[in-house]
Amino acid sequence: MSRQQRRKNVVVFRALPADLLARIAAVHEVSVADPRRAEEVPAFRAALRGAHGLIGSSVKLGAAELAEAPGLEVVSSISVGVDNYDLAYLKRRGVTLCHTPGVLTETTADTLFGLVMLASRRFVELSNHVREGRWTKNIGEDLFGWDVHGKTLGILGFGRIGQALARRAALGFGMPVAYYDPFDVNVPELASRARPLPFDEVLAAADVIALTLPLSDATRGLIGEREFGLMKPGAIFVNGSRGPIVQEPALLAALDSGHLRAAALDVFAVEPLPMESPLRTHPKVTPLPHVGSATHETRRRMAELATDNLLQALAGTRPACAYDLSKVEA
Ligand code: DGY
Repeated sequence: MSRQQRRKNVVVFRALPADLLARIAAVHEVSVADPRRAEEVPAFRAALRGAHGLIGSSVKLGAAELAEAPGLEVVSSISVGVDNYDLAYLKRRGVTLCHTPGVLTETTADTLFGLVMLASRRFVELSNHVREGRWTKNIGEDLFGWDVHGKTLGILGFGRIGQALARRAALGFGMPVAYYDPFDVNVPELASRARPLPFDEVLAAADVIALTLPLSDATRGLIGEREFGLMKPGAIFVNGSRGPIVQEPALLAALDSGHLRAAALDVFAVEPLPMESPLRTHPKVTPLPHVGSATHETRRRMAELATDNLLQALAGTRPACAYDLSKVEA
């Protein structure tokens, strides 16, 4: 039996569909343990000791946890974001990191545009008005929303998801788009409707600002008092990428002062959002429980891609979606 065909040990740290679990179990030994459940932590740590492959999502795996798996060859994340992992450590150890870009782009862009609509048209608030029996006469101006057509959408981060959001906004909803990306990005299809601008100018130009940048050392805490201050009075802010990019106290201050009109947030600095967070019940905030990619179809595609990635890496072939660690400082 060649080295690549040897049965290896795989730790599944987030539930996988049964057929995908069976695919992995057909060629490798599988342990299933989700360390987000306190009672499964000992099993997870025990399984790490012999693990060659990890597959899952939504668990922080820093150097301390990864060091418990001395034989680790691959981490296959069921997510596009890789901020849960210590990238420098993985690079130093030569562990392959895989993720699931592409398959969630359209769904996540739908969620982001949903956030734009929720905040602008106040659908959740208005629906609660009906549910709670307060619709006893026609609503007044105090419950009117704001149009999205004709408003400028500012997109911070113009990768796949930012571009898919721009297509929805510009081509479907008549919103001019201004965007910032640290790299030069040009999308011919959107040439006449989406213009690249420097970061501060996007903040100043937009009626609605959407955040789609990935979380990294460069973006952690990027949006604070200065940035909210640069936004137009009455701007709407939506975040569908990662919570820690935003300084939440500064966001709350901008909402409370009336400078920002509203925010719709799918992500938070701490998740699940703590009960005591003022963002949970703030009248100007529509919170969602991190559902950017959470549809049956897309989560299935993500799990399939992550399974393919894992099996390819363990077989010694290049996985379809290995994360490029070459630019990470080890
Ligand atoms: C991702 O894939 O990174 C989404 O945020 C889901 O975790």
